Amino acid sequence: MKEILFIQSSINGANSQTKRILNYFERYWIKNHENTSIIKRNLVKNSLPIMDEEVFSAYYSTPLTQQSEKQKKAIEISNELIDEIKCSELIVMTAPMYNLSISSQLKNYFDLIIRAGLTFSYINNERVGLLKNKKALILTSQGGLKYDKDMDYLNNYLRDLLNFVGIEDSTFIGVEGVAMKPNNIELEHSNAEKKIMDFINNY
Ligand SMILES: Cc1cc2nc3c(=O)[nH]c(=O)nc-3n(C[C@H](O)[C@H](O)[C@H](O)COP(=O)(O)O)c2cc1C
Repeated sequence: MKEILFIQSSINGANSQTKRILNYFERYWIKNHENTSIIKRNLVKNSLPIMDEEVFSAYYSTPLTQQSEKQKKAIEISNELIDEIKCSELIVMTAPMYNLSISSQLKNYFDLIIRAGLTFSYINNERVGLLKNKKALILTSQGGLKYDKDMDYLNNYLRDLLNFVGIEDSTFIGVEGVAMKPNNIELEHSNAEKKIMDFINNY
């Protein structure tokens, strides 16, 4: 059975544009692939521990027997997130643009899954991502229009983060101009839906 992981990171609740694209993905996917198990992780509704000094030291230096309850809990959650992504062959992630980049919830998710020896490693002076044979689909939305490459702190950044842990096959589909060109939004969604259909049909 195929395993898919949905990661939601919008703070816009029912009005979220990226959630709307994700809902479309889910409906169309289920029509075409009945035998799928979908794990759903909502990073806003179920907030994760922030990676601070205490949590970081639990990763690499504080021995298990000396860890505080907070450290134990954070490690437990980090392990759970890593297990979840390891067993998924496709990761579908919403990535709304907030202040030029990803949401703090999504950044925090990466802080919790990027761990030396578990999701990446340094071998012979080279960095190796350890999450292999996976694809990612990233669903984006932004109020303005796409920035040029040098100003893109969302698409390039996410592609690099995923690459860092070994996920080299990532596809970006999204809507833009949500605030700048609100009259265009339905057209934006119908274009995004066509791309989702193509993605699923060719999967
Ligand atoms: C806190 C915040 C910051 C935002 N910053 C940007 C921005 O830097 N650039 C942009 O084009 N749109 C920005 N927007 C607009 C969002 O990208 C837009 O509302 C998008 O639809 C968000 O996706 P969502 O609806 O799935 O949450 C921002 C919105 C919020 C709430």
